[in-house]
Amino acid sequence: MINSNPVFLEALKKEKLSTPPIWYMRQAGRYMPEYRKIRSKFKNFLDMCRDPEVCCELALQPIDAFSLDAAILFSDILTIPDALGLKVKFVEKEGPVFENPINSVDDVNNLIPFDPDSLSYVYEAVSNIKNALPRDIPLIGFCGSPWTLAAYSIEGHSSKNFEKTIKFVMDNKAETHLLLSRLTDACFLYLRKQVQAGADVVQIFDSWANILDSKQLNDLSLSYIKFLITALKQDPVTSNIPIILFAREPSCNSRTLIETSADCISLYWSMNDFDIDLARGKTALQGNLDPKILLESDVIIKNETYKILDRFKDFPGYIFNLGHGLTPDINPEKVKYLTEIVREF
Ligand code: CP3
Repeated sequence: MINSNPVFLEALKKEKLSTPPIWYMRQAGRYMPEYRKIRSKFKNFLDMCRDPEVCCELALQPIDAFSLDAAILFSDILTIPDALGLKVKFVEKEGPVFENPINSVDDVNNLIPFDPDSLSYVYEAVSNIKNALPRDIPLIGFCGSPWTLAAYSIEGHSSKNFEKTIKFVMDNKAETHLLLSRLTDACFLYLRKQVQAGADVVQIFDSWANILDSKQLNDLSLSYIKFLITALKQDPVTSNIPIILFAREPSCNSRTLIETSADCISLYWSMNDFDIDLARGKTALQGNLDPKILLESDVIIKNETYKILDRFKDFPGYIFNLGHGLTPDINPEKVKYLTEIVREF
């Protein structure tokens, strides 16, 4: 009998496969000329995210260019804070800028309730993409982690150290937890709607896990992620949907990430071999080539990629990916080359 289940879903069930499924974080984006062409028609990036037909075209671009094994919704994690009235804009060379960031405890107490229907443009994008994709290519929906959304919402823009956020969190513990639980509820409703619209898998991006020490990471981030995953696993709409957790350079070992009950852990590139072995067989694993390697020669790319494929070759449930997202300076030819050598290995 032919096994017709998509390889990406097989890997998420911890099946051992001879060739790993491949997709890349930020696979749709500025490194692709066909993306830049469409992007140039919009001033504000979020306006582009509000157009479900454009999102569908953008999500399919990397699938068409590299024949990847999974597509990811084209949108952004900051749709939720925008829907909470914080008014997010994307400014060239600066990234996201919030018109109404959280400055005080009153701002937390006065947040409007999250209305999942206010993001219907996202669910429409999901269903458009799902309808346009070949049947054997699963679609990944996503959200930011409650902590990462809180960090942007307080800081008001991208930052290296998130000093304003850390001070706010230290000074206002109760309101910080209130904000995190409000965001957790919003993430749950948002992912549930994405699944109803056709997402086959969801990924939670904890992109600012790295600014927390191990105790804060547990209190402010992982405990809320665990809560979110538990809620998704208990809801009949989402209970069978595999959940991937990406945390950027977290100050914890893989075992702690696994304790969130995620089905798959997306490994940052600095995760050490000992930690990777700790996770073997416990969940599916995804990763973890340093995207900067893609700026090197083909010889170096092959060498570094084969080291990773060798390490994971007997792991049940392995998905090839990067340790973080593709960056705008990467040549699409290198992405094509990388995909080919993984399939040839
Ligand atoms: O293929 C895909 O993954 C595309 C979908 C996607 C985007 N953002 C599109 C995007 C996804 C999954 C995201 C998630 C996202 N957004 C994260 C988590 C992933 C990560 O990399 O850690 C984060 C932290 C954000 C917030 C965000 N969005 C920032 C900080 C920026 C600016 C980045 C920069 O370098 O300017 C964005 C903008 C953004 N989101 C772009 C894309 C393609 C570029 C916008 C542009 O073209 O101007």
